[in-house]
Amino acid sequence: PSKVYKEQHRPLYHFSPSIGWMNDPNGMVYYKGEYHLFYQHYPNDNVWGPMHWGHTVSKDLVNWKNLPIALYPDSLGYIFSGSAVIDWKNTSGLGINNKPPMVAIFTYHNMEAEKAQRSDVESQGIAFSNDNGRTWIKYAKNPVIKNNGSRDFRDPKVFWDEKHQQWVMALAVQNHHEFWVSKNLKEWSNSGSFGKEWGNHSGVWECADLFPLKEGDVTKWVLIVNINPGLPNGGSGTQYFVGDFDGKTFILDEDQKPFVKNGHALWLDYGRDNYAGVTWSDIPKEDGRRILIGWMSNWDYANQVPTSAWRSACTLPRELTLKKTKNGYRVFANPVKEVGLLKDKSQVFTLKNQVVDGTKDLSSALKFSPKTSALNVTFEVTEAKTKFEIIMENSRGEFYALGYDAKKNEFFSDRTQSGKVNFSAKFAKNIHVTPRTSTDKTISLNIYFDVASAEMFADKGETVMTEIFFPNEDFSKLKIKSSNGSVKIKELKVQAIKGIW
Ligand code: FRU
Repeated sequence: PSKVYKEQHRPLYHFSPSIGWMNDPNGMVYYKGEYHLFYQHYPNDNVWGPMHWGHTVSKDLVNWKNLPIALYPDSLGYIFSGSAVIDWKNTSGLGINNKPPMVAIFTYHNMEAEKAQRSDVESQGIAFSNDNGRTWIKYAKNPVIKNNGSRDFRDPKVFWDEKHQQWVMALAVQNHHEFWVSKNLKEWSNSGSFGKEWGNHSGVWECADLFPLKEGDVTKWVLIVNINPGLPNGGSGTQYFVGDFDGKTFILDEDQKPFVKNGHALWLDYGRDNYAGVTWSDIPKEDGRRILIGWMSNWDYANQVPTSAWRSACTLPRELTLKKTKNGYRVFANPVKEVGLLKDKSQVFTLKNQVVDGTKDLSSALKFSPKTSALNVTFEVTEAKTKFEIIMENSRGEFYALGYDAKKNEFFSDRTQSGKVNFSAKFAKNIHVTPRTSTDKTISLNIYFDVASAEMFADKGETVMTEIFFPNEDFSKLKIKSSNGSVKIKELKVQAIKGIW
């Protein structure tokens, strides 16, 4: 039997490549019943190297079937991050037999130019497929956008703008995003830019995305800006802006400005392990969801994490929604409902209306391992100093904890004693924290554990933290703990999750 997908630290229900290195998710597009996921991939080693686009598909966003590598590096360079669209009207003329082609738009990264320290390292190319993404042909006249003098000029995210009957590309250009428009995916012109004076600028801007989100009758445009480094907890992270799009450029909403000026930023995820996330293209209108997937790692240590056959996994696919809060519009994120398909109905543990004061070990009551599980808890703290945590532990005393600290009004994730932590000095220096923004008396946490990761969606997706860890022996115990006061649990539910591999 194959040992692949059975290795220590291998996630059992998140996508990870069977072998080799992976970073950013790329080219996510839905077509004919399949969610395509491509990814930055180096098949020959478990560290970053000459970039390919790996490929996997799913009918339900949770079960994945791996396909052969879609794009290989060529004389123009490595294949860096980008997007894919269905060219429904065959505007590009690359389709055959009146069928729309699938078109990938990506960055060529030229190592010779980089070595010679020239600035013309990055340009944009396209490739097309007329067999549902199974085989790809690179466009003969690549690049379609030549380098414009900026060393960092990458990660094109393209969508069809129905209102203005044009293709729009959001592109990351060193310290801002640019917008380019086209009628045919082949000829592009620069229509605007955004960002030099807004948000976080501790690192280079990468992986852009621009899309509308609706709440009731209100439509806002969201601009995604991945940045490395800059995340408050360290390393690479995903900031976003809320505003409008006029067919040429992104316009930041007035009431958002206080939150993104002087280096301030709004983050899609405050944990350290969700990077380079962008959203699916061409999800049918009847569905209408905006679904993002990220890379569950951080450039601070991605090349050093203690796995050998493969390196890194994707986050769970997440539905993004727009919500008006006391501070204005914010983007909330929650796992897509399809994750429910993996929940094991016969392995559920629930607790209702209980006061917790001290530590409560749930391990034996659970009757299943919490290492792949979903935990939902709603609770109230009774004292202003109370700290409430959920702890996963193994027989060696290694543990991972996350929860809420009322004294600081902060959520936290503590992997400082989670096992293998010394492979990088940047991995577990301190406990990672983020302020709670909701003022609801009841706090809710939805947490997904998968062997080596935890994704916490607090206050129904208002605050998110995603973190990875590497215990020497899988976690098998689950405890809840309150200190400096008690916690009133309204409901706690733990459910086992089935592996997909
Ligand atoms: C983000 C990134 C992208 C680039 C790719 C290279 O993680 O640096 O900007 O296209 O990775 O693999």
